Amino acid sequence: MFQRFKGMLGEVIGKVDPPSAEARKVLAAAEPLAAKRRFAEAIEYATAENRRLRDPLLERRLARWRQEAAVASPATAPCPDWPPHIADPFPDAEGPPEIRGIEALTPERLGGGILHHGCLIVRGLLSVDVVDELKAGIDSALSACEQTKRGHATLQTRTWYSRIPLTGRRESANGRTFAELGNSVFTADSPRMLFNVIELIKAKGIDRVIGSYLGERPVLSIGKSTLRRVPPQVRPGDWHQDGAFLGAATRTVDMWLSLSHCGDDAPGLDMVPRRLGDIVETGTHGAEFDWSVGHSVAEAAAKGRPIASPIFGPGDAVFFDQLFLHRTAGRAGLQRERYAIETWFFAPSTFPATREALLL
Ligand SMILES: [Fe+2]
Repeated sequence: MFQRFKGMLGEVIGKVDPPSAEARKVLAAAEPLAAKRRFAEAIEYATAENRRLRDPLLERRLARWRQEAAVASPATAPCPDWPPHIADPFPDAEGPPEIRGIEALTPERLGGGILHHGCLIVRGLLSVDVVDELKAGIDSALSACEQTKRGHATLQTRTWYSRIPLTGRRESANGRTFAELGNSVFTADSPRMLFNVIELIKAKGIDRVIGSYLGERPVLSIGKSTLRRVPPQVRPGDWHQDGAFLGAATRTVDMWLSLSHCGDDAPGLDMVPRRLGDIVETGTHGAEFDWSVGHSVAEAAAKGRPIASPIFGPGDAVFFDQLFLHRTAGRAGLQRERYAIETWFFAPSTFPATREALLL
C-alpha cells in the first residue's frame, strides 16, 4: 500500500493537466451521486479514478464533496464511557513518550500516550522520500497562494491553491487570514495537497487508529488543518491549549507532522509533557491573548517536570489533543525553516458548532 502511495505522489508533483475528457466522464458519473447526497459513493468513486487521472478539477470537486458531506451527515451521539480506560503504556516516561514507525501506532499507545502524558511522539512515521514530496507540495501551495493574491491565478495555481468556500462561520475565515499571514495555508485550500494528505492518512491507517481511540469515525477540521513553512526568525508563539477555543470537552486528536529537522536550528515545539485535566488559566502573566497562557502558568502546570523541546527529524510526528499545553518554539539565531503539516481529527459527535468539517 505504501508503494502505491509513493508512486502516486511521484507522479503528482509538478504535473499540470487541463480537465481531461476522462475526468469529465468521471464527473458526469459522480455529480449525480453528490446531487442525491450520496457523497460517500461519489467521493469513493472519484478518488479511485483520480489516483490514475490526477485531475485538478476532480480534486477541487472532491474537496467540496467532503465539505458538503460533513454538513449533510446526521448528528451522532457521543460514544458512551469515553475516554477509554487504558493502562499507561509508558510508565517510565519522564518526558513525551516515543515510539518508532507506523506499525507501532496502536489505539492503546495513542490513547495511553495522550491520556497519561499529554502526547505521543512517533519517530519515522514517514520515509524521507515521501517527506520531500510533501515539502515540495507545501512550496507549491504557498507560492500558488501568493500568486493568487497578486491576481495571477492560473490553472496551475488552482491545482495547488483554490480556496474552499466557507459557509460564513467567522472562526474559519479569521483562521484563514491568521494562517496565511503566518506562511501557512489551510490544507483544504490546496485541493491537490488535501487529496495527497487524505491518501496518506488512509494508506497508513491513521484514520482507523484515531477512530478506534475516539470510538467514532473521525472528521477533519478545515480551519485547524494547515500546511506550514515557518521561517527561522519566527518569534515564540504563546503557550496555549487548543481546547481554549475548541472547547475543553471536544474529542480530538491532532497529528503534527514535521517534514524537516527542527527543534534546534529551526523552530520546533515547546511542550508541557503532562496530561492536564482541564484548561489552565488564560490571559494572565504576560499572555498576549485571552485564550493563551503566560509562561509562568505553563511552568506551574508542568509541576516540576522540565518543559520538553524535542528535536524532530523529517517524517516524525507528535499526536496530542485539545488539552495539550504547547507553543511554537522560536528564539534568536535559528537558521532554518520548519515545514510541517498539522491535521486535527474530531469525533463528529462533539464537533464545534463554530467550525467547518470535512468527511474523511
Ligand atoms: Fe496549537
